[in-house]
Amino acid sequence: MNETIKIIEELRTVRHFSDKHIPEEHLAAILKSCVNAASASARQTYSIIVIDDKEVMKEIGYVGKKMLVFTVDFNRIMDTAEYLGFRYKYGIPIVEFMTGSTDTILAAQTAAITAKSLGIDTFFSNCVHRCNMDKMCELLNLPEKFCFPLIALLLGYSDEKKSKQTMKGRLSGPGVIHFNKYRRLDNEELRNIVLEYDSSDKHFLSLIDNWRVKGYKHYLDYFYEKWVGCTRLNENQIKSSNPYAQAEEMLKKVGFLSDNASFI
Ligand SMILES: Cc1cc2nc3c(=O)[nH]c(=O)nc-3n(C[C@H](O)[C@H](O)[C@H](O)COP(=O)(O)O)c2cc1C
Repeated sequence: MNETIKIIEELRTVRHFSDKHIPEEHLAAILKSCVNAASASARQTYSIIVIDDKEVMKEIGYVGKKMLVFTVDFNRIMDTAEYLGFRYKYGIPIVEFMTGSTDTILAAQTAAITAKSLGIDTFFSNCVHRCNMDKMCELLNLPEKFCFPLIALLLGYSDEKKSKQTMKGRLSGPGVIHFNKYRRLDNEELRNIVLEYDSSDKHFLSLIDNWRVKGYKHYLDYFYEKWVGCTRLNENQIKSSNPYAQAEEMLKKVGFLSDNASFI
């Protein structure tokens, strides 16, 4: 483990910030460092709006000491082309957006890592898509075309009295990492994932930690039902999604199929 890996492993979302001020030189270092992230054709198809007005942050969604709004933005490279007497040749819109989003998010994550290395905590939020977007664009004076707010990154120092201390777990095995070829998980591996989420020492439980008290068998039961709003299939629906469910059940009962196996 080296210092860089340690910093990355210590990244966690902090939702409550203290009043401690971020030194200007640290903010400058974060901004200078984040633009070093790779960007397609070195275009840096993003703009970063640095916000210190708490009212504006509140309007967008959350309040920190600073908020960085990372936007996918083609205006600068278009304006520069025009300045030189070119008409900018905009590519296929969705491809430009995909590439621009990749540039933007690499810069945003680099900002979060740099901040952590300076002892500054962070909080990513897509509140930029849930707030009154027209109002936000007006407050931030965003160009009307070819500029899209992708993510907000709040910066500050954790208010230790209000912030949870636990590190969050992550899946890092089968289903996440595939060697050479993609492989769908079998039922045994899916079961392991369900149990991994349940394990209290893994600290996956960013959304709720009393799901058992609330009557859920697994954390993911809570997650799918309450958080995502999925409807639970009844037995008939499960059977109709697998027409061989009865045969499968019987094969298990008579011992021709192991308990964890499935036809689908
Ligand atoms: C794209 C994105 C959007 C997020 N939006 C929110 C949000 O609006 N509100 C929130 O409380 N957390 C938000 N988060 C933080 C995640 O909930 C958090 O990363 C996750 O629970 C894991 O916790 P950790 O970052 O402490 O490991 C967001 C994270 C990402 C990457």
